[in-house]
Amino acid sequence: MRSQILQFLRAHTEEYMSGEEISRQLAVSRTAIWKHMQALRQEGYEIESHPRRGYRLLGIPQRLLPAEVKSGLTTKLLGQADILHFDVVTSTNTEAKKAANEGCPDGTLIIGEEQSNGRGRMARGWFSPLGQGIWFSVVLRPPFQPYDAPKCTLLAAVAVTRAIRAVTGVDCGIKWPNDILYQGRKLVGILTEMSAEMDAINYIVIGTGINVNISESDFPPELRAIGVSLATAAGRPVERLPLLQAVLTEMDSLYAQARQEGFTAILDEWRALSVTLGQAVTVLCGDESYAGTAVDIDADGALLVDTATGRERVLAGDVSIRPRQG
Ligand code: BTN
Repeated sequence: MRSQILQFLRAHTEEYMSGEEISRQLAVSRTAIWKHMQALRQEGYEIESHPRRGYRLLGIPQRLLPAEVKSGLTTKLLGQADILHFDVVTSTNTEAKKAANEGCPDGTLIIGEEQSNGRGRMARGWFSPLGQGIWFSVVLRPPFQPYDAPKCTLLAAVAVTRAIRAVTGVDCGIKWPNDILYQGRKLVGILTEMSAEMDAINYIVIGTGINVNISESDFPPELRAIGVSLATAAGRPVERLPLLQAVLTEMDSLYAQARQEGFTAILDEWRALSVTLGQAVTVLCGDESYAGTAVDIDADGALLVDTATGRERVLAGDVSIRPRQG
């Protein structure tokens, strides 16, 4: 009922809607409506009430609440199933794995306003302050083979890059496999985790962290040189909700494309958006490290690096782009 009342208010923001009218249209008592209005205000909706004229929606919460994320979203899958929202969560990826292990459907989303233990690749942490970024995970149950999973990460990076460029105009690019950079500093990190059998994926969790409105001075000192936010890159604050909706829309369409046609076109787009290919790189891969030129990714999404002793194929690792000498 609460979401119906909200839909009703949303459809009439230019006028007051009397309690009587809402009560008639939604077949619910006026006392119940009053209680729902109070609860919506508690959630952060700004609702004006006038003794004779009725109610009017003036503003929506700053939080990425499921009803707001779903509003106007035209995706087929992502955001259409369950959305779990937390004001504070240890890690949206951890919650997503929990939900997946309990059988949540394909396309379930987990959103946190703040993560108290945000996780990055290579067992690093991820700085996730309250309301300053988009910290979310999606649970996918694709019909792919486990060896296709790394390509889902590349798919996510393409989707987020497309959305950021379209919504903010910030000229960002992808560092293999899935960091999104602006002028060499990290705007977005993606952490993919999987549960699989030998020949089938149970689920993939793709966790995305987008630094949206973190000011330079709010980054911890050790991250200031390597992290950056969209607000800094764009030179103005960026609204989180339309950006999250754009990311979901792009991911949804690329996920459908991958299922129908495979990953060829997505890998081509990844190549076009890459800031790694053609660069001198150092790759750290467990105890090994190679230096060379990143020349391409192959059909599995592995990075191909030409070194002094031949071509290396890197499926997982940490890449740093080296400044050219001379
Ligand atoms: C990296 O670049 O190291 C990956 C960072 C991934 C961060 C996101 S934020 C949402 C999701 N939950 C997590 O704990 N991590 C990912």
